[in-house]
Amino acid sequence: MEKVNVGIIGGGLMGQEAASAFARWFVLKDFPIQPVLKAVCDQNESVLSWYRNISTVTSFETNYKNLLANAEIDVVYAALPHHLHQQVYTDILLSGKDLLAEKPFGINEAAASSIVETTVKLKRFVRCSSEFPFMPAARQLIRDLQSSVPGRIMAIKAGFLHSGDMDPLKPLNWKRQSAYCGEIGVMGDLGMHAMHIPLRMGWKPDTVYAQLQKIITKRPDGQGGWGNSDTWNNASLHMSFRDGYEKIPMTVELKRLAPGETNTWYLEVFGTNGSMKYSTGDVKGYRRYFPEHQSWHRKELGLSGMAFPVTSGGIFEPGFPDCFQQMLAAYFAERAGVLNEKFGCVTPAEAYASHKIFKAALVSSNNSTVEKIYW
Ligand SMILES: NC(=O)c1ccc[n+]([C@@H]2O[C@H](COP(=O)([O-])OP(=O)(O)OC[C@H]3O[C@@H](n4cnc5c(N)ncnc54)[C@H](O)[C@@H]3O)[C@@H](O)[C@H]2O)c1
Repeated sequence: MEKVNVGIIGGGLMGQEAASAFARWFVLKDFPIQPVLKAVCDQNESVLSWYRNISTVTSFETNYKNLLANAEIDVVYAALPHHLHQQVYTDILLSGKDLLAEKPFGINEAAASSIVETTVKLKRFVRCSSEFPFMPAARQLIRDLQSSVPGRIMAIKAGFLHSGDMDPLKPLNWKRQSAYCGEIGVMGDLGMHAMHIPLRMGWKPDTVYAQLQKIITKRPDGQGGWGNSDTWNNASLHMSFRDGYEKIPMTVELKRLAPGETNTWYLEVFGTNGSMKYSTGDVKGYRRYFPEHQSWHRKELGLSGMAFPVTSGGIFEPGFPDCFQQMLAAYFAERAGVLNEKFGCVTPAEAYASHKIFKAALVSSNNSTVEKIYW
């Protein structure tokens, strides 16, 4: 088994998710690569202390440049606030290491463009995170999309919905401030997830009309006062892309204020021959419409439907940690040239494309216009 030494920069929520996935790598059956988590950097010492329980981690840093100076590390997973992406991702690439980046891949389109340019110039292997296409039912949807199942596509609906921000007393953090999260707000936070499959399918919108909403604008600052929460909470993007001469509508909802929704990612494709739906709200349920019966059929897909086989029972339910680990496996497989025909992580070009859409959406919402997107 080929060993690849990994470092994590940014040990918070997602750093821990990645570390947990590496720690139970043995669940993957006959996977040819073994990532070994060796080093972690977080500016916050108390965050670092969680990693002291992981026996493979021998280096604990508060300055990421020290982690980058560690010649042992081959790949860095970076999970940092968005205002740091451009600088840190660039420094990772300059240090000669490969990168699994977190979305949105830069705080704005200019930052994303600069990271792409550095990636190409230095010829490093870079991909960006988006895990839901690795759910078994999402994989089935992709397979059906790539076959003749849909016929002519008539419409697409996609989205990613959270409700945590419905609590008006949830304290302010970097994700709710434009200076750290980005002017594109919720689109930067949730948008890449919804756009990964559409962009991979080549559904690049040439127009967008966006309605962005700032609904809760003040939050407790954690020090007894109130601070400005100035990011867009909700975004509804009405887009269209071309299939030959036809214009196909694609609607994408990205919401932090979606009552009752907890990390609900969905994709619905409506075609003349067949239609498909999947939502993580019904984690195993894949729905397909058969026009000859005029009815939707629901099939349950468990862990046996994963791209990279696992030792867990095939009928067991998949969850977030499973699809995140599968995404990491796809990253290491593609880096080693053994992904073959399997679905891969977001490419730098796709990450940049998502920024182009979100930038146009921002202009559209500010001016109440339909914006054209040139590719
Ligand atoms: N793929 C997903 O499903 C998913 C989910 C949530 C967040 N994210 C993305 O992951 C990234 C991080 O989000 P998170 O939720 O883990 O945030 P977080 O706030 O939980 O963690 C960020 C960590 O970075 C550390 N940090 C900040 N500045 C630093 C610096 N200069 N040097 C070293 N460490 C520093 C913080 O101390 C913190 O522990 C973001 O890009 C976010 O959009 C992805």
